[in-house]
Amino acid sequence: MSLLSAGSILLLLLFGESLGAPRSFSIDYKNDCFRKDGEEFRFISGGIHYFRIPRVYWKDRLLKMHMAGLNAIQTYIPWSFHEEIPGQFSFSGDRDLGHFLQVAQDIGLLVILRPGPYICAEWDMGGMPAWLLKKKDIKLRTSDPDYIAAVDRWMGKLLSTVKPFLYQNGGPIISVQVENEYGSYYACDHDYIRHLTKLFRSYLGNEVVLFTTDGPGISYIKCGSIQDVYATVDFGPGTNVNSEFYTGWLDHWGSPHSVISSTRVAKSLNEVLATGANVNMYMFIGGTTFGYWNGANIPYAPQPTSYDFNAPLTEAGDLTEKYFAIREVIKMYRKIPEGPIPPTTPKYAYGAVSMKKLQTISDSLKYLAFSGPVKSMYPLTFLDLNQALGFVLYRTTLPANCSTPTPLSSPLNGVHDRAYVSIDGVAVGILERDRVITINVTGNAGSQVDILVENMGRVNYGHQDFKDFKGLVTNLTLGNNTLAGWTMYSLSIDKAINEGVIKEKEATATDPPRPAALSLPTFYGGSFVIPDGIPDLPQDTYIKLPKWRKGQIWINGFNLGRYWPVRGPQVTLFVPANLLTTTAPNNVTILELERAPCSPGPCTVEFTNTPILNATAASHYKRHLELFSREDSLG
Ligand SMILES: *[C@@H]1O[C@H](CO)[C@@H](O)[C@H](O)[C@H]1NC(C)=O
Ligand SMILES: *[C@@H]1O[C@H](CO)[C@@H](O)[C@H](O)[C@H]1NC(C)=O
Ligand SMILES: *[C@@H]1O[C@H](CO)[C@@H](O)[C@H](O)[C@H]1NC(C)=O
Ligand SMILES: *[C@@H]1O[C@H](CO)[C@@H](O)[C@H](O)[C@H]1NC(C)=O
Ligand SMILES: *[C@@H]1O[C@H](CO)[C@@H](O)[C@H](O)[C@H]1NC(C)=O
Ligand SMILES: *[C@@H]1O[C@H](CO)[C@@H](O)[C@H](O)[C@H]1NC(C)=O
Repeated sequence: MSLLSAGSILLLLLFGESLGAPRSFSIDYKNDCFRKDGEEFRFISGGIHYFRIPRVYWKDRLLKMHMAGLNAIQTYIPWSFHEEIPGQFSFSGDRDLGHFLQVAQDIGLLVILRPGPYICAEWDMGGMPAWLLKKKDIKLRTSDPDYIAAVDRWMGKLLSTVKPFLYQNGGPIISVQVENEYGSYYACDHDYIRHLTKLFRSYLGNEVVLFTTDGPGISYIKCGSIQDVYATVDFGPGTNVNSEFYTGWLDHWGSPHSVISSTRVAKSLNEVLATGANVNMYMFIGGTTFGYWNGANIPYAPQPTSYDFNAPLTEAGDLTEKYFAIREVIKMYRKIPEGPIPPTTPKYAYGAVSMKKLQTISDSLKYLAFSGPVKSMYPLTFLDLNQALGFVLYRTTLPANCSTPTPLSSPLNGVHDRAYVSIDGVAVGILERDRVITINVTGNAGSQVDILVENMGRVNYGHQDFKDFKGLVTNLTLGNNTLAGWTMYSLSIDKAINEGVIKEKEATATDPPRPAALSLPTFYGGSFVIPDGIPDLPQDTYIKLPKWRKGQIWINGFNLGRYWPVRGPQVTLFVPANLLTTTAPNNVTILELERAPCSPGPCTVEFTNTPILNATAASHYKRHLELFSREDSLG
């Protein structure tokens, strides 16, 4: 509180001189600098994504950024997060952009806004809503009229929300990016960029500083930049604005955790600042990609739930050696605020929680697919079924007797992205995009084939068109037959978990024996009580899943994200305290897709006080892993 009012006083003092005079922010091309209220101005900014941090922690993270000596922050805006359903906009709770901007301003931070419509950002489809793909041949990020119509509607809503927060209107926003790294996209559609610029100007006015960001190099800048819009580059010295100075780097499942040393970051930051450049550190805090929102790179490599980024503030907002190293560098160029830095929030190890086996996906279809199944000769995609994220169950039958192992195959690599296959209720294998396109199966003609397909995140970056349809996007074959006669269940798993309708499985005599390597995708549930008599609980924690393999976790119905410790590098998931309650038992729900450690073995998850983000247990797995048991033997 006291820090906050100190921030406001500071703000008054800074702007005191110009009280009465209009606030202005502009580019002085002649002197190659920015001018704020007429004075030469240089920003030292840090990246923060409000959509990767729970709202209750926005103030804590922003204060820490302010105390590091930053005078500005930069954020993207993910369109898909605010318009999940066409025409229905959400700007409340963790999506309350206006509140975030207000908190930044109250603390005394200026804001550089990157509203897209495309943002990359390791976010599903680079922030564009998946429903755009309902028109299959849509040309994203071009003048395609259907794309433009959707962009105009969204930007109309967004830019009107943002307008009062512009610097010249009394708010913190000093500049707004048009598109994002457009120069690295094949389309090079100047009409599209001109349209966006006009659109931004029509809502935000002519004074606002618009800019583009591109990779270094003339070819990028040629297609990415536009007349009258300031061009900046992602990295490399030599210009006076560096929009993405990398403090760390992102991770992918199965690859080693990225680390950039504090010394290296501090040294290059010093070099950049010494040239007098404006800089944005990407990221200053990475945060968490909760739920299903992560993106992927190609060849298909999805990003994990943690977006820690090895940034100066950790995923949980903790102060690091890198934070202090950066602060020391900034100190040499700018007076940094006095006063205490908000401390690292305490973490609590709530300990082990036992989990009970609940129903399988197939058992609970009536709760998960309440709108009923859809039938079609050949498989439909997620979007054909009006589903954007999560899971769809595809069901058919074996067309022929397969008494000897017969290849079940996706010859065109059309499993997007991972398929858990069972025959007559027995798990038989996993197909995975770019990795496993064939498994052998046996069974009699007429046996039920259930294929649960997981969307692991849409590709968020590419030079070529990177439209990423999900589900079974091409036919599957069994031997020489094309599988046909599908029944598809669009699954509303989050809704069912929130309604508490997934129950314990009733034991039946006909339960198949548990196979060695794989089980059916199954829910597990457990709960824990926050201990009494310890002050300041609940506190933040991390959930660890010893011997669990791959799946999704919900805490009190909130979709925390994916876990995949057998592939790594992420082993623990951040559980912010705001998800927990002291007034009732806290519910943990897990959908384990491959095999739980339970019976035999302890059926527990563990809440610990230490994150593990750097364990790539399976980093040496074979690219075309065919038999599950081979991967199994690694662990
Ligand atoms: C499959 O094999 C069974 C005997 O195991 C036989 O009765 C049935 O006719 C066969 N079905 C087909 C479609 O070949
Ligand atoms: C399927 O079985 C055949 C015959 O046993 C074998 O040659 C082939 O390698 C197997 N394929 C896979 C993907 O396991
Ligand atoms: C599946 O195969 C059928 C018959 O060859 C074809 O008409 C259909 O377009 C294919 N579907 C997909 C998604 O490839
Ligand atoms: C598929 O067809 C080819 C030739 O038409 C035949 O040689 C082969 O045995 C068939 N495979 C299966 C699994 O039926
Ligand atoms: C946990 O689940 C139970 C049973 O569905 C429910 O009554 C309770 O409210 C849940 N607790 C929380 C904190 O959501
Ligand atoms: C993982 O990170 C921890 C904490 O920074 C460090 O102590 C440990 O050595 C790292 N492990 C690996 C395998 O890099």
